[in-house]
Amino acid sequence: IMHGIGFWNTCALSFSLSLCRFSRYSVSPFSVLSRCGIKHPKPLPFFGNMFMFRQGFFEPLNDLIRTHGRVCGYYLGRRPVVVVADPDMLRQVMVKEFSTFPNRMTIRFSTKPMTDCLLLLRDERWKRVRSILTPSFSAAKMKEVKYNPILQNPSCHCICPCLSVLVQMVPLINTATDALMNNLNAYAESGEAFDIHRCFGCFTMDVIASVAFGTQVDSQNNPDDPFVHHAQKFFSFNFFRPIFLLFIAFPFIMAPLAGFIPNKRRDEMNNFFISCIQKIIKQRDEQPPEQRRRDFLQLMLDVRSSKECVSLEHFDVVNHADELDHTHQQTHQSASEQDNDYHQPQVSHTKHPQKRMMTEDEIVGQAFIFLLAGYETSSNTLAFTCYLLAIHPDCQSKVQEEVDHFFTRHESPDYTNVQELKYLDMVIAEALRLYPPGFRFARSIDHDCVVNGQFLPKGATLEIPASFLHYDPEYWPEPEKFIPERFTPEAKANRHPFAYLPFGAGPRSCVGMRLAQLEMKMALVRLFRRFNVVTCSETKIPLELKSSSTLGPKNGIFVKITRRDLGEDQGNPTTR
Ligand code: HEM
Repeated sequence: IMHGIGFWNTCALSFSLSLCRFSRYSVSPFSVLSRCGIKHPKPLPFFGNMFMFRQGFFEPLNDLIRTHGRVCGYYLGRRPVVVVADPDMLRQVMVKEFSTFPNRMTIRFSTKPMTDCLLLLRDERWKRVRSILTPSFSAAKMKEVKYNPILQNPSCHCICPCLSVLVQMVPLINTATDALMNNLNAYAESGEAFDIHRCFGCFTMDVIASVAFGTQVDSQNNPDDPFVHHAQKFFSFNFFRPIFLLFIAFPFIMAPLAGFIPNKRRDEMNNFFISCIQKIIKQRDEQPPEQRRRDFLQLMLDVRSSKECVSLEHFDVVNHADELDHTHQQTHQSASEQDNDYHQPQVSHTKHPQKRMMTEDEIVGQAFIFLLAGYETSSNTLAFTCYLLAIHPDCQSKVQEEVDHFFTRHESPDYTNVQELKYLDMVIAEALRLYPPGFRFARSIDHDCVVNGQFLPKGATLEIPASFLHYDPEYWPEPEKFIPERFTPEAKANRHPFAYLPFGAGPRSCVGMRLAQLEMKMALVRLFRRFNVVTCSETKIPLELKSSSTLGPKNGIFVKITRRDLGEDQGNPTTR
């Protein structure tokens, strides 16, 4: 009998101990933020505050900052997140003290090829890959280019080593724009309302497949293309699926199981892209160099035998630091660099040149991230810009005036001449202010540190809420209004540069910014030359937004388009 009682006592004791541990586990990380004096909403056991974001992050994040202040926080599952909406502090984090915050947040359960991509790479590996990619995305070699007839010929994709890769992208983008113009022309003829966001989605998919993967997909005419089909799978990811909630609540239990839990969709998608890119790499290696198509994939393959080196301070696309001559980095420092005053990490490329190598896995990883980062962001921006111009016909007329004038000087758009479109540039900038697709991004806090007097705890994520800053009345009078003149050079010079972050800032800023601007301007200049975009009864004003990953329109953007009466050359919509 005594033995029996002992047994039950032991059972009861271990049960209550487990219960104690379990309940401690459920709330254990939730004191981190308040210990640092960072205000946050009350978290739920296991899940923290993640259910606040069930409908997306855009509005709830803005509400959070309005309620709890410019430095506040929340718990995404068990992970503490510090939200910083203070431009001075952001300047410290993203630029001045970059070496303390070189990484984004870690995504524990990601798989290849995602794990090898620039977005998620960390520390020295990120630096090596970014230094390889920076010259190709940059404008540094642009000055050598005036007009090259070869580049105007879409069928020629030969290697022109003196030119920046971006310049060589022009014919590829033009081919995709031809298909876009044909599609739009059909809508103009039918006179029906249509979803212009969908059209741009196909256009940017064609561009990115072509420039990053060396693949001609023509999703504009063939939406069932397997490439398009698999890419869309990625964007239908649901954060609130039960299995994902388990990962959030029990990361330590789920981590070792992650590799064994079947995920057919993810595996199918990953395998499709991995084998697709591997096949192209094999084909390229078998081709004689002069027949190889000139795109980012080829650039990365060429890098296997190149020696050029680019250092950290040149990574900053937003501050134009990448435009400096990379080879004279030690002697020629720009004002912006001196301003930025990057704290160099211990290992600098200049002093200890690294091997410029990329493994095949890394090449696949980059091609994959170009697709993910370049597809939705650019198509959303194009669609938002057209929506804003449709509801502001006076601004649309100004764009058309500028575009008409442009075509009196140029046959077709290219990298150099689109820089002349100053008003269009302001319109796109204002569209990105109101609707920034990358409206929140992050840095990981790898060590306990203090920034502008605020203690930041190791292991937390620092979140940058670009969307809140873009509507801050302190920097943007009447923030809800569409006013492109906010982006004249004078207005920009008088504003805090960290109040506007559509492409991020510092060495970790968007590497694809120039490619995105190039493709968007090339599409819009031809679109507004030929067409007017007008609202119709199907146009949702104000727009409904979705914001669970990028910021995009919830149910498309429905408009009508009409042909402009230009007198000449109406028969062929793809010219110009
Ligand atoms: C309108 C279009 C685009 C927008 C609004 C946008 C926005 C952003 C933002 C906000 C970031 C984070 C910056 C930071 O953390 O400071 C980012 C990073 C990145 N973007 Fe873009 N992006 C666009 C187009 C593209 C394109 C076309 C590509 C590729 C071809 C691209 C590739 C990347 C990559 C690889 C990163 C990570 C860079 C790194 O960690 O070093 N983006 N982008």
